[in-house]
Amino acid sequence: MKKSELVQQILGSHFGKVPENHRTAEAFAPSNIALCKYWGKRDTDLNLPLTSSLSVALPAFGSHILLSVNSDKKDEIILNDSPVQSDTQFYRRFIDYINLFRPKLSWYFKAVIHSTVPVSAGLASSASGFASLVLALNQLFEWQFDRRQLSVLARLGSGSACRSLWDGFVEWQAGVRADGMDSHGVPLEQIWPDLCLGLLIFSVDAKPISSREAMQRTVQTSRLYRDWPAQVSSDMEKIKKAIREKNFLLLGESAEANAIAMHATMADAIPGISYALPETKTSIQKIRQMRDEGISVYFTQDAGPNLKLIFLRQDMPDISRCFPGLQVVQLFSAGTF
Ligand code: DP6
Repeated sequence: MKKSELVQQILGSHFGKVPENHRTAEAFAPSNIALCKYWGKRDTDLNLPLTSSLSVALPAFGSHILLSVNSDKKDEIILNDSPVQSDTQFYRRFIDYINLFRPKLSWYFKAVIHSTVPVSAGLASSASGFASLVLALNQLFEWQFDRRQLSVLARLGSGSACRSLWDGFVEWQAGVRADGMDSHGVPLEQIWPDLCLGLLIFSVDAKPISSREAMQRTVQTSRLYRDWPAQVSSDMEKIKKAIREKNFLLLGESAEANAIAMHATMADAIPGISYALPETKTSIQKIRQMRDEGISVYFTQDAGPNLKLIFLRQDMPDISRCFPGLQVVQLFSAGTF
């Protein structure tokens, strides 16, 4: 099934409708960081994953969007106060997504986006971007879909976006259906107020290879990838248990092992892929050394050189001292420290 057919099926009688003139919608969605990664698709058009994944939202970082019908009869995207040029990948992906809900060019839009996430820095800007866009479209068209339906729609923009419809911990259940209607986010009820995440940013430059392309190359060429589904089911079980029992060591060890395994599958792809900068490697050594000295800190890494440190509030002073540039995010109440 193609993306456009699925959208038609989900929208039903809403499909092809034009939003009312002068309507404006406003939405915010948080970024999310996977503790158990999504890496590999069983359907590249519908962004259906080969395995389930689990993330935690970063409430202070995300995308805010004001979406309106543009009476100027042109599409306009303003990102962080600058117009987005039509020859950029950002513009293309955005328009392609809107066009799923605009089978004929019968109306134009203006989107004013404020992202507090560095675009393309492996900090999941596309996740909060597509999640906020789908929330805004839901208002603009008055679909009144629930979060799970919106999660399915957000997934069509970017897989990890389906986890950005909720705060807190969210599991993306891989599902088995060919149309992917059972492949969406499901929020976990547990909260963990003492859990902290620190952003260690070494570069906000665009990545040398997109996560989309890297994921595909890994699935097609990496021999190590054969072990990935088994690794994920074991890590997923441990991470859910750790969250239920607030067992920090189990959480840190399992999340870190999962990220290391994901990067190992990429390194084994042909040609091999590495997102690490020298700073990434030295910081990983430092984290290990800190653990040897009794400080409980772990890391995870996505498709970029930056690291996300995982630790408990009680260890924040020690960790901030070792990493002076660290931006610490409160996961379960808005704001940064
Ligand atoms: C490494 O969701 O950006 O961050 O579905 O192709 O848009 P597409 O990929 P995307 O991949 C995210 C990969 C990851 C791991 C994760 O967030 O689970």
